[in-house]
Amino acid sequence: MGENLVAVAYIGATILFILSLGGLSNPETSRRGNLYGIVGMTIAVLATVFGPRVTPAAYPWIVGALLFGAAIGLYAARKVQMTQMPELVAIMHSLVGLAACLVGFASYVDTSIAYEGAEKTIHEVEIYLGILIGAVTFSGSVIAFGKLSGKIGGKPLLLPARHWLNLAGLLVVILFLVKFLQAPDIQAGMLPLIVMTAIALLFGVHMVMAIGGADMPVVVSMLNSYSGWAAAATGFMLSNDLLIVTGALVGSSGAILSYIMCRAMNRKFLNVIAGGFGTGGGSSPAAAGAGPVGEVTAVSAVETAELLRGSKNVIIVPGYGMAVAQAQHTVFEITKLLREKGVNVRFGIHPVAGRMPGHMNVLLAEAKVPYDIVLEMDEINDDFPETDVSMVIGANDIVNPSAQEDPGSPIAGMPVLEVWKAKTSIVMKRSMASGYAGVDNPLFYKENNRMLFGDAKKMLDEVLAALKG
Ligand code: TAP
Repeated sequence: MGENLVAVAYIGATILFILSLGGLSNPETSRRGNLYGIVGMTIAVLATVFGPRVTPAAYPWIVGALLFGAAIGLYAARKVQMTQMPELVAIMHSLVGLAACLVGFASYVDTSIAYEGAEKTIHEVEIYLGILIGAVTFSGSVIAFGKLSGKIGGKPLLLPARHWLNLAGLLVVILFLVKFLQAPDIQAGMLPLIVMTAIALLFGVHMVMAIGGADMPVVVSMLNSYSGWAAAATGFMLSNDLLIVTGALVGSSGAILSYIMCRAMNRKFLNVIAGGFGTGGGSSPAAAGAGPVGEVTAVSAVETAELLRGSKNVIIVPGYGMAVAQAQHTVFEITKLLREKGVNVRFGIHPVAGRMPGHMNVLLAEAKVPYDIVLEMDEINDDFPETDVSMVIGANDIVNPSAQEDPGSPIAGMPVLEVWKAKTSIVMKRSMASGYAGVDNPLFYKENNRMLFGDAKKMLDEVLAALKG
């Protein structure tokens, strides 16, 4: 395949990637978006493998690597639970970072292309930055994986003078860049490169260790963005335009997603990166000994069915617990039945409900809930006062009124679904335990709130049976 044909194939793949991103922004077009992505990636791989820069002698290696990688990918995709998806994404990002590091070292020791003068400097800066971003992405993602899978505690690690430590690291990295560029040969350049890699790895660990549990979603999408920039840096090192464009697409879309999530959690991006959320600042109600107290009113599945049957307007708010219980199919059955009885049932989706962006949308789409009754938080929040029953299924933080009512709460200012404004709210969960952010929830004690205790799937099955009966 000649250079020109490869360029055309790369342009085609780029267009497909952009169409893919566009498609993924809406549940109705997401399947098509995925398909565009698959076709684009296939074209990209074929054009690269059969392009002028790969010799046939490398084919067995490439096929071997493809089979090996595909087998691991297939195994992981089949085995992973929906709730473990963020961990999988984190560990995948770490591989992008590792690849950028390895490509960086390989292109530094590769003498097949002789760079001279300014070109040599540019190439070495690309290598240095590629390894730097790659190493931060790699170690940061490994720690994020550990935190998300519970292998490392969720508490932020706050070293004394940590900002100074980071600043010192940055200065050393800049100093070693100068040393690296001045190195007379590859051997002399290796030392500054290795020292910088070690500092970058430590920085990645330190950065993510300092971030508290509730900010992890932002961190994952930020690492997604970093992995894109690492890929773009690899593209520069290898002079591969497609990798540069794809990396930039991933990098910028990850950054936009991080921004959207920060807004949804009312967090400043820089504060998230600086870390420490959940420890300093406001005291949590529990820590201050001022946790919500009072009586909670428990209801049975039969009473819940009665309340639903007598309603005109119902809003269902799903959360992480619905995903754990795999209750989405029963939720759909109940929705169908109520709609047949003339009840207006809609869903309110918080941007960070569950454990990954779009988590609830995916589950509801899988259960075949029609898209037009699944609304974003901003679209539905004003409708709660006209709602008879708001039914919270395994959600907690995203419906916590202390975000609005208690300025000292760790989640103060986070936008929440105002379920308590409905005539009656019903919270379905197994116990009085707190949610992901570890914050007490005064909603449970409100006068118009009812608690339906038990596993979401089991309780909803009972509600469905009662509705049918
Ligand atoms: P959470 O606040 O984590 O609350 C989920 C609740 O579900 C828990 O309180 C738990 O209470 C209940 N639950 C668990 N298993 C259950 C089961 N089998 N049946 C019934 N209930 C069950 O979830 P949320 O309201 O969806 O909020 C999401 C939180 O996760 C936010 O703090 C968000 O910042 C964070 N987060 C989000 C993401 C993204 S991107 N979406 C990623 C990481 C973290 P019991 O134990 O009493 O049952």
